[in-house]
Amino acid sequence: MHRKRILLIVGGGIAAYKSLDLVRRLKERGARVRAILTKAGAEFVTPLSLSVLCEEKAFTDLFDLKDEAEIGHIRLSRDADLVVVAPATADLLAKMAHGLAGDLATAVLLATDKPVLVAPAMNVRMWEHAATKRNVVRLKEDGIYFVGPGEGEMACGEYGPGRMAEPAEIVEAVAGLLVGGAENLRVLSRTALGPSLRGKRVIVTSGPTHEPVDPVRYLANRSSGKQGHALARAAATLGAEVTLVTGPVSLEDPAGVSVVKVETAEQMLAAALAALPADIAICAAAVADWRAAEEAGQKIKKRESGTTLKLARNPDILATLSALGANRPQLVIGFAAETENVVANAVAKRTAKGADWIVANDVRPETGIMGGDRTKVQLVTASGVEDWPAMSKDEMAERLLSRASEAILKLRPAAE
Ligand code: CTP
Repeated sequence: MHRKRILLIVGGGIAAYKSLDLVRRLKERGARVRAILTKAGAEFVTPLSLSVLCEEKAFTDLFDLKDEAEIGHIRLSRDADLVVVAPATADLLAKMAHGLAGDLATAVLLATDKPVLVAPAMNVRMWEHAATKRNVVRLKEDGIYFVGPGEGEMACGEYGPGRMAEPAEIVEAVAGLLVGGAENLRVLSRTALGPSLRGKRVIVTSGPTHEPVDPVRYLANRSSGKQGHALARAAATLGAEVTLVTGPVSLEDPAGVSVVKVETAEQMLAAALAALPADIAICAAAVADWRAAEEAGQKIKKRESGTTLKLARNPDILATLSALGANRPQLVIGFAAETENVVANAVAKRTAKGADWIVANDVRPETGIMGGDRTKVQLVTASGVEDWPAMSKDEMAERLLSRASEAILKLRPAAE
């Protein structure tokens, strides 16, 4: 969701305090957040605290002429990529369902032409009331997306559905709606609001491998693991059960992912095979093609060493996963890091390794891709080569996983 614009409408309710955490999490993921507080919302969170977190003025009143002169409620509603209402009270849902537009929040909701995601929060009796039920049905028919409410102990002491979804869940829903743009919105409506990889298993390899030469030296490469880790995070965001097999990197473990840490190519292969069965395998690791033919038991002394280091070939993890029989993941995706003839080499690599897709990137040092935060790729599939624009590694990961989820929806269901 890097650089995506989110307009957050904060309704009145005890859950409004969670909107501050929501803004923080959205911003951490690279989104730009602008906030509107309803009159009741402003009783629970101050416009000042929201403004500070959003790093821009939080809007509060339709009839603030200065705001109208500066921006206007129509532009406010159109400037966003997505409108999020959290918490959405029973009152706000009722107004939305009936097209009322008596204040800034509802006027914006009526004027917007962008997708709207609501996170309801209210007392269980209010949520279960026939009037709210009717409103929810109508809003769903109108194409409004819902996340939550969850079940649990409520601020009022009662128990049941009505608790606002946790900020992390709302972020997951936002990411699910935003990745891949309109293309992904179609996937989401097909899967009736669930994250599109729920119930699917994904294996991702990431980072470099370290191949020991002696107890203190190793062969390695400059891979940072940023792309692989971003892919694991994006798969988890879409609801997948993810195993990330990573070589030595200085990155934090992505949340909600099971991480297996390895050093060598042989260990990486063993860990990837142990994580099967899977629906999707993505080999993003920069696996060393060679290892020392024999690892010296003691530190090699200058005087002992000759001028040549004998090397042995490492197993190819991508080729091994692609060649599995019944246990082969439905979709196997590899990367091609190239410094010349990028597309031609990637096309050849797809066939040579038996992968379904190859993500090609140009890793000449002047591109800054190796170790950097941004990337520019071409996606090579059986039907051709797609040139993707430059984007962040996070955005590329979200887009690739969104494409992968669409692809496996079209393929036959995985053998259990
Ligand atoms: N790969 C792998 N195991 C290896 C080597 C590579 O799984 N032992 C995977 C990488 O994770 C990547 C793809 O294969 O998805 C391509 O890797 P790359 O290093 O670009 O190509 P190589 O196979 O090493 O070919 P070459 O060095 O000839 O370019």
